[in-house]
Amino acid sequence: MPRLNAARKHTIDFTLNGKAVSAEAENRMLLSDLLRHEIGLTGTHVGCEHGVCGACTVQIDGKPARACLTLAQQVRGSDVRTVEALAPDPAVLSPLQAAFRRHHGLQCGFCTPGILMSLDALLREQPDAGREDIREHLSGHLCRCTGYATIVEAALAAAEEQRKEETPNA
Ligand code: FES
Ligand code: FES
Repeated sequence: MPRLNAARKHTIDFTLNGKAVSAEAENRMLLSDLLRHEIGLTGTHVGCEHGVCGACTVQIDGKPARACLTLAQQVRGSDVRTVEALAPDPAVLSPLQAAFRRHHGLQCGFCTPGILMSLDALLREQPDAGREDIREHLSGHLCRCTGYATIVEAALAAAEEQRKEETPNA
């Protein structure tokens, strides 16, 4: 029976943070490893490597996805966004990031990139998300520092700000 050569490399063409990328990856390379070790985008954090903590969350075609449970080969032809894409300029925080700062939504920051990528997708799909929606959406993320309350407050503030921007006269 033919055996899969795990070390064999293939070219993967995909879009990463709005730019076309062509990368070489072995059959079993994880997306998290491709992003961090091959491409050098270390904003995507890796905690449990088992799909439990949510730290590695990125967006694939607009949906939150665990980069530690995704093979690099699976993103061929997809649109991948990482936390590096949130702010238009490294010196300027996105509104969601700024809300985290204002509301003390992070301490050590290890969980933060994954949480931001999840919330960014939620607020795009559901701009009227309320407290319970946000809590439910974040149920797949572990934070060892904040106790979650400030994260939820930050998300609510960002959602409100986004609604005001979208309907300034409402
Ligand atoms: S590192 Fe992927 S879910 Fe924990
Ligand atoms: S801020 Fe430290 S784990 Fe969440």
